Amino acid sequence: MSLKIDREVILAPMAGYTHSAFRLLCRELGADRTYSELMNATGIARRGEEKELSFFTDSERPIHLQVYGQNPEEIAQGAYVLASKYRPEAIDINFGCSVKKVLKAKAAGYLLQYPEEMGRIVEETVKALKPLGIPVTVKIRLGFYEDTLEEIAENLLKAGVSAIALHPRLAVQGFSGSADWSRVKALKEIAGSVPVIGSGDVRSWRQIDEKFEQTGCNGVMVGRAAVSNPWIFKEYKERRDIEVSLAERVDFILRELELMWGYFPKEKACKAIKAQISQLFKGVRGKAKLNDAIMRSKSCEELVSNLLRIKEEFSG
Ligand SMILES: Cc1cc2nc3c(=O)[nH]c(=O)nc-3n(C[C@H](O)[C@H](O)[C@H](O)COP(=O)(O)O)c2cc1C
Repeated sequence: MSLKIDREVILAPMAGYTHSAFRLLCRELGADRTYSELMNATGIARRGEEKELSFFTDSERPIHLQVYGQNPEEIAQGAYVLASKYRPEAIDINFGCSVKKVLKAKAAGYLLQYPEEMGRIVEETVKALKPLGIPVTVKIRLGFYEDTLEEIAENLLKAGVSAIALHPRLAVQGFSGSADWSRVKALKEIAGSVPVIGSGDVRSWRQIDEKFEQTGCNGVMVGRAAVSNPWIFKEYKERRDIEVSLAERVDFILRELELMWGYFPKEKACKAIKAQISQLFKGVRGKAKLNDAIMRSKSCEELVSNLLRIKEEFSG
């Protein structure tokens, strides 16, 4: 099934960050496409989905709901449950995550060691979603211990994948070293008409253009840089650096929180957003005071009133 992706700037999936509210705000700022964070397909197939993770609104479309798992049958089943219920633009299979818990479960990035099994997983999922007309995409790394991109790509393409996002590091690297975008270019040459998306170490809007030019890829993902600067999408669209004040950053967080309360219990939302707050205020005057106030907040009310107080203080 073909999927059209043409020079898109995409919010990368990030567990703990890219839930509905953040995706929506990034789309408003100019992200062309979003991905959910990874969801356990085996759990979904056996017990149903975690509603907070699968929740999204139409404004976040085009959206890929991302699953991971261990074997073709359960991944295909989990994917079917989500696809039939929510009709996302695509189901994405994660073959990149290499955190200990996931590797121990022999899922996601672990499977990079078994390109043929990756192919079987995609094939089974493509078959399951065909009646729904929903394509299957993947997000991969270069390999596990060594770069086996060509073999991986061959198996995925044969299995009918509709787009490949590549974070060009090995699984064993975690986030060390740097993303090797020459491998995104190599994948683009192999993939033919199947869209290729690159992901890794894009820190400024200018680098987005560089990646498109260097590799000919169809999409560039922005991950960590978007957590601390979601305005990067707007900067890219408007082709200029944007100075964002502390007050505007506080307003962003308050809006995100309000949206989160639609699908997260209030206190849980406030707890969840704290990790993002400290990143969003990186390098901003007043950051130390803000972080201190955030850490001291014992309840949601306190968090909100502290945010508002600091905003007043630094707007004057
Ligand atoms: C906190 C965090 C959580 C992540 N969670 C996911 C995930 O759920 N699914 C996925 O495919 N990649 C995940 N990634 C990888 C990112 O999508 C991206 O490929 C990687 O961070 C490199 O891009 P960046 O340098 O722009 O952040 C995660 C990365 C981070 C930092």
